[in-house]
Formats: sequence, C-alpha cells, structure tokens
Amino acid sequence: MSAKIAPSILSADFGSLADQVQQCVDAGAEYIHIDVMDGQFVPNLTFGPIVMPALRKIADAAENVILDVHLMCETPEQLVPLFAEAGADIISVHVEATKHLHRALQMIREHGVQAGVAINPASPLMALVPVFTITDYFLIMSVNPGFGGQKYIPESTGRIRALRQMLQSSGLETLIGVDGGVKHHNAKDIAAAGADVLVAGSAVFGGDNSIAENIAEFHKVLG
Ligand code: DX5
Ligand code: ZN
Repeated sequence: MSAKIAPSILSADFGSLADQVQQCVDAGAEYIHIDVMDGQFVPNLTFGPIVMPALRKIADAAENVILDVHLMCETPEQLVPLFAEAGADIISVHVEATKHLHRALQMIREHGVQAGVAINPASPLMALVPVFTITDYFLIMSVNPGFGGQKYIPESTGRIRALRQMLQSSGLETLIGVDGGVKHHNAKDIAAAGADVLVAGSAVFGGDNSIAENIAEFHKVLG
C-alpha cells in the first residue's frame, strides 16, 4: 500500500484554516497533522486543543480522516486528556519529553486514542524498543522539531529503514510516520525506506501551486 500524506496545519493560512484543511481532505489527504508546541520542549508556541473542534467537524463529515496530534510539549501526559476529549485520533508524545513514556502511552490508549511516540533526530532508536507493544504509531523526526520549512536530515532515511527492520524482527507492523522536510523530490525514497505516513507542511501549503496540486503531485510520486 502506498504511503499516505499528512498535511501539517503548521504551514496553513490560519486566516482560512477550515477552508485549507477542507481542500486537503477533498484532495484525498487521509491524515491531518496537528503540531502542538509549548515554547519549552521546542522554542516555538502554537495552539492548544481549542483548534480541534473545527478540524473534528471536517474529519467527521469526510468519515475517513485521521486527526494526528503531535505534542512537542514537556510532560505531555498533562495534555493527553484535553486532546483526547477534543477529538484526537492519534496522540504522539516525544520520547524525550516525559520521564514516564510507558505510562503516557497507556494513558493515551485508556482514552480510546491511538498512542504515538515521536523521536528526535539525535535520539537512539533503541529507546523505542521497551514500548514497542504498546505503541500504535512511531513518528521519526527528520528535522529538529519547532519550525516548518526546514531541510530534511539525510540520516533519517536510514533510521526509518532500521526501525522498520526492528519492528519486523519483533513481528510487528506498526505504522511509521516521518516528519520534517518531506518534499515531492524525496517522498518516494522515504516511503521506500518503510514509512507509511509522510507529514508535509510547506510542500502542501507553500509554493505557487494550489493545495490540491501539491497533494496530487505527492500521490503521483508515491504511485
Ligand atoms: C516540525 C513539525 C512538522 C512541520 C513539518 O517541528 O513537527 O510537522 O510542520 O513542516 P515541513 O514539511 O515544512 O518541514
Ligand atoms: Zn509534526
């Protein structure tokens, strides 16, 4: 199955957020990626659960759209109930951001939400092994989190491949997402390395082409 595109609303025009997200869904995006930054874990600040109802409405009308919340926040477990109640389908916490990763993942699942773990470019993949069986989604950061529009870190492709192999040797087929610097020119290689979900912000909402054209181009290169 070909990899899916997850437009990151971080790069959207907030003056017409609902309209832009609707354009993504109409163009066939099955995930909407929501970057939550707390100004502590990362040097930037975005939004809280208040953004969720507007997105939930669009996702519900489309039926098959997944709201994928990426918490770039210290002690993310404090935010899990808020985002779960606000309608997240996936909540990812950073392995670097909590002293109690296992508990945070359990908490996410107890709220009926899929549990994700995001991992920074310099963190060892081995840190994920102890939570393999209680994780629904691994998000490999291919930039240092905090900002859209950064360049893809080339070593990330090897990390995707390595994590896919590690999961396979454990008999698992857990979804792998990749986040940061994903563009039309590198999407195919990233998917071939074993990624199921490609997060893309500036390549969907930026540039001269429309959102629909940008997503169609991703679907074309991914086959
Ligand atoms: C980075 C965020 C990403 C970001 C990706 O901290 O987690 O989701 O929006 O943006 P691009 O695709 O522009 O690198
Ligand atoms: Zn993200």
